Amino acid sequence: MFGARCLLRALRSCSSAPCPRHKPSAKLSVRDALGAQNASGERVKVQGWIRSVRSQKEVLFLHVNDGSSLESLQVVADSSFDSRELAFGSSVEVQGQLVQSLSKRQNVELKAEKIEVVGNCDAKDSGFVHIHTPVITSNDCEGAGELFQVKPSSKIKVPEENFFNVPVFLTVSGQLHLEVMSGAFTQVFTFGPTFRAENSQSRRHLAEFYMVEAEISFLESLQDLMQVMEGLFKTTTMTVLSNCPEDVELCHKFIAPGQKDRLEHMLKNNFLIISYTEAVEILKQASQNFTFTPEWGADLHTEHEKYLVKHCGDIPVFVINYPLALKPFYMRDNEDSPQHTVAAVDLLVPGVGELFGGSLREERYHFLEQRLARSGLTEAYQWYLDLRRFGSVPHGGFGMGFERYLQCILGIDNIKDVIPFPRFTHSCLL
Ligand code: 4AD
Ligand code: MG
Repeated sequence: MFGARCLLRALRSCSSAPCPRHKPSAKLSVRDALGAQNASGERVKVQGWIRSVRSQKEVLFLHVNDGSSLESLQVVADSSFDSRELAFGSSVEVQGQLVQSLSKRQNVELKAEKIEVVGNCDAKDSGFVHIHTPVITSNDCEGAGELFQVKPSSKIKVPEENFFNVPVFLTVSGQLHLEVMSGAFTQVFTFGPTFRAENSQSRRHLAEFYMVEAEISFLESLQDLMQVMEGLFKTTTMTVLSNCPEDVELCHKFIAPGQKDRLEHMLKNNFLIISYTEAVEILKQASQNFTFTPEWGADLHTEHEKYLVKHCGDIPVFVINYPLALKPFYMRDNEDSPQHTVAAVDLLVPGVGELFGGSLREERYHFLEQRLARSGLTEAYQWYLDLRRFGSVPHGGFGMGFERYLQCILGIDNIKDVIPFPRFTHSCLL
């Protein structure tokens, strides 16, 4: 199977265009290619990453950069070269003739005779660019104060009281950084360690966990956001099931009998959607006695979330439109007083409860300004407010806890059993 895939890839790199036999090409950096004087058809080879693709009826233009120059080299290819693999971020090796360019924008360009994709850019395949968001940050994205502060150890002398001049923390979410980057790349994601100083030893809380987060520009409805969330859950799960079925079966057989059927049930049904208000009504009518009495305006607890999923036939359920007072400052105001909710969405899944948290973001300057002012955050978040002054667009995103995801698909009851070195209150071994 793997061999066949490699063979296909090799065939594809050569099949879509003539592959004439010429004397070996000289390898050039992009910088050297751009600096070539009087280029007159010398055969060269350039390796680099695609920075842009422009596909016309008969010609394909690529801009390739290898980091040797700020400028990229224009590659001109016959449209028969066009393929999904020639996408932003893919690494390529291009062979062809270096010629004088007809355009005034550059002196030379590379007329491609052969283009080989060295590495696909999967992130871009699904339309999302991978961003490495920082671990150390000065913001408290969720506004819940569940922060671990970072300071130099006392032995290190720094001139200022604080190393960074401002208090800094381990990140609770990369969302705000993603919002910045979504203004450049439209669809972005991050996957990295996340830290919460929650005083909880529950079966679904860690002090250090991994979160995958996505942010999408020009997104105007929760419906569209939920489609991406459901798609991520289902495609990831199907990939895991087809790539490592033995590992999953082992867990299902010895730890969670019946989980295979429960998972199939989740995959084959459309996820359900209820509003927070409907959820509270369902809970109020439940015959079960909850430790926390369900009340409009109060947070949903794990016991409530698990009940709701059961009530929905063990199909994952999106709960949308939570009270504004319960949610962070960045969520979009639904302007539906007297209830006053925000466009938030949590995805609840069997066995775990909340697996995803997301929302539309408040992209309107004056709404956001007022929310920040009310929380006394205007000064600290001036840069975030500025994003709404210069070309603001509707956007939204979500985060999914990776360990909770593993719990959900493998049927593992305690989050500490899906991570080799769990960190939680009163425990940080090694
Ligand atoms: O709902 P949360 O707090 O959402 C955010 O942080 C957003 N800023 C994400 C975004 O929109 N980019 O966290 C998202 C998910 C939760 O649904 C849960 O699965 C997981 O992160 N999570 C935890 N997992 C393990 N231990 C904890 N203490 C967790 N806290 C959150
Ligand atoms: Mg949440």
